[in-house]
Amino acid sequence: MKKITYSILTLLMLNISSLRADEGMWLPILLNENHADMKKKGLKLTAEQLYSANHSSLKDAIVWFGGGCTGEIISEQGLVLTNHHCGYDAIAGKSTPQENILDNGFWAKTKSEEKPIEGLTVAFVVRMEDVTSKVLDEVKGMDEKTRNSKLSEIYKKIIKASTKDTHYEGLIRETFKGNAYYLFILERFTDIRLVGTPPQNIGKFGGETDNWMWPRHTGDFSMFRVYSNAEGKPAKYSENNIPFKPKHSLPINIKGVNKGDFTMIMGFPGRTNRYEFSQGVQIATDLVDHAIVALRDVRLNAWKEQMNKDVDIRLKLSSDFAGVANYWKYFRGEYEQLKKNKVYEQKLKEEKAFEKWAESKEDYKSLLADVEKTFSIYKPYSLQRTYLNEGILATTISKFAGMAMSMESMLEKADANSFNDLNERMLEALKDMPYSKMIVAADKRIFDSLLVLYCNNIPKDQQAPFVNDVIAKYDANNMREAIKLYTNFVFNSSFFADENMVEAFFKNPRLEILKNDPAYKFVKAFRDFYIKNYKPKVDEFNDNSLALGRKYIKGLMEMNTKKKFYPDANSSLRLTYGTARPYMKYNMVTNLDEVIEKNIKYANHPDKEFTIPQRMKDLHQAKDYGKYAMKDGKLPTCFLTDNDITGGNSGSPVMDGNGNIIGLAFDGNWEAMSGNIHFDPANKRTICVDIRYVLWLIEKYGQAPQIVAEMKLIN
Ligand code: ARG
Repeated sequence: MKKITYSILTLLMLNISSLRADEGMWLPILLNENHADMKKKGLKLTAEQLYSANHSSLKDAIVWFGGGCTGEIISEQGLVLTNHHCGYDAIAGKSTPQENILDNGFWAKTKSEEKPIEGLTVAFVVRMEDVTSKVLDEVKGMDEKTRNSKLSEIYKKIIKASTKDTHYEGLIRETFKGNAYYLFILERFTDIRLVGTPPQNIGKFGGETDNWMWPRHTGDFSMFRVYSNAEGKPAKYSENNIPFKPKHSLPINIKGVNKGDFTMIMGFPGRTNRYEFSQGVQIATDLVDHAIVALRDVRLNAWKEQMNKDVDIRLKLSSDFAGVANYWKYFRGEYEQLKKNKVYEQKLKEEKAFEKWAESKEDYKSLLADVEKTFSIYKPYSLQRTYLNEGILATTISKFAGMAMSMESMLEKADANSFNDLNERMLEALKDMPYSKMIVAADKRIFDSLLVLYCNNIPKDQQAPFVNDVIAKYDANNMREAIKLYTNFVFNSSFFADENMVEAFFKNPRLEILKNDPAYKFVKAFRDFYIKNYKPKVDEFNDNSLALGRKYIKGLMEMNTKKKFYPDANSSLRLTYGTARPYMKYNMVTNLDEVIEKNIKYANHPDKEFTIPQRMKDLHQAKDYGKYAMKDGKLPTCFLTDNDITGGNSGSPVMDGNGNIIGLAFDGNWEAMSGNIHFDPANKRTICVDIRYVLWLIEKYGQAPQIVAEMKLIN
């Protein structure tokens, strides 16, 4: 599953410090504790073979792909396998109506045909380290607010000492809400090239209809290659770079997967909140989940309208569309399943048990009363942040205007001497504004509708006065009409609506022009309003709920001394293990015959989400599956396991007991979409693309046997 990403602007502005089946996303350095259990379930490797800081181990084949996904090395020449939806942005970015690799697929025949992807990086974990005492020593005695404001400085100091004289990066992750801290030393490679991808009607087969659901038939994979300099070190793109020689690459098991087989997944799960309080569940179901869905609906409808009109626009917006649609559906599912799986009630029950245990414990007896207080203060404002991130700041024009925010003070301070330097920095900033994504007709419609939603759904006494002023100015008696007129004005007169005008401004920036730009004024008004009125409340809530959560987890650990606790996902390397396992009435493995059936069943799908290339139909007719067929002669497509994954695990290898890859994790199932907040052992599943389907698509469909020849197959 792909991680949800927030824009740089919102991260900067809002300082977001926080977003059995076989439960648990375990930290690789602590796997000794799980090892006996893993062996019992079918693991054949030692704990050292899974993770070792000194010898090559499985972890050396796993990469953090682009910051939101996982990939794995599958050849001695740095070949990386990940999901199609993880490579989507790169693939769409390399597509034009003339060379449309998103729609037609792409298979590099030789290394020289591989396509360098600017800006894409992959990072390996060199080692990890428990730095809990180092961090806790530094924050001792601090109140929560000071503590959280000092953390990044403390991290920097520890990282600096640990990466001295190396080209490595360090990353510290707050774990168990601050009961523990782990340092990850990373080696990041920056010359990454696209090697192959199926057409998107295979790589995204089933589209939004099938997304987050089983049964599934998506060929969700793409391939890249890591390049290094001649010394095997990271280097920026150069023709002289060579394919990276990894410490470990994963062999490929094409013998197939059977019910009950041991499966393990290593990757970078993004965020879970399994120790959330019942009140947090309530905020999600009563308020936030609905709001995200309604706000995202607006963007999706406006984009779709334009994408259907023009191939060029479709290629430019496809990647953003897929990303927004993915979590639009996610939050619908989360709401539905939090309700259906009675997560609120389950949390209450757990809290009751805790309360009883805590009755006589000085440290804990008032904890849940404090939680109640903290959440009830926050709840009335809990839509503010959502409406800012997913609403006011979600248009392209607002994003770009928001990026100019830091320039105001630069321009204020600039004198003749610093002006040239400033100018350079501004032109640099322009590169972060991809104007290819500015489709004015769509953005205008979005701007207008989102503002209407804001007026309708944010309580009147919480609205920014700026909105009232706008309505008073344009049509005091008709909010709808006023917003329409105001939107026209913004798009007709803001220079942020037009790439050439922005460029002209950046070449010759003037403070007065910036300050008077209507889009700039709009963003600034909301930003200032939020920072003054709601950011302090949100920060206070974040600080308090984090401190309470930390105490709650500590208490739970004292209460259940026999239980092994695993930390929430936090975009760091984890391992989850379990078994291949069906659920409910469904089969565990799907096949190509069913792809053809869906193609016929959904022939009239308005977005053509089940269309497949003729070549695939022909190959299916010929039943030419070679060594990739199952015993029944069919070609497998996807399968299920009960591993515990979340967004960020997308592209992770699903491995057998010997550490050979049998599939690629790419999604979760609808019935368990409450899983980030509460693990449901009966229904939680991982949806995987079968490695045999991947290889068949490369070799037979893509006619690129040379890529398969690089891999080590186990038959
Ligand atoms: N739900 C999957 C994930 O989060 C797949 C997302 C891409 N597919 C899509 N139809 N938008 O990783």
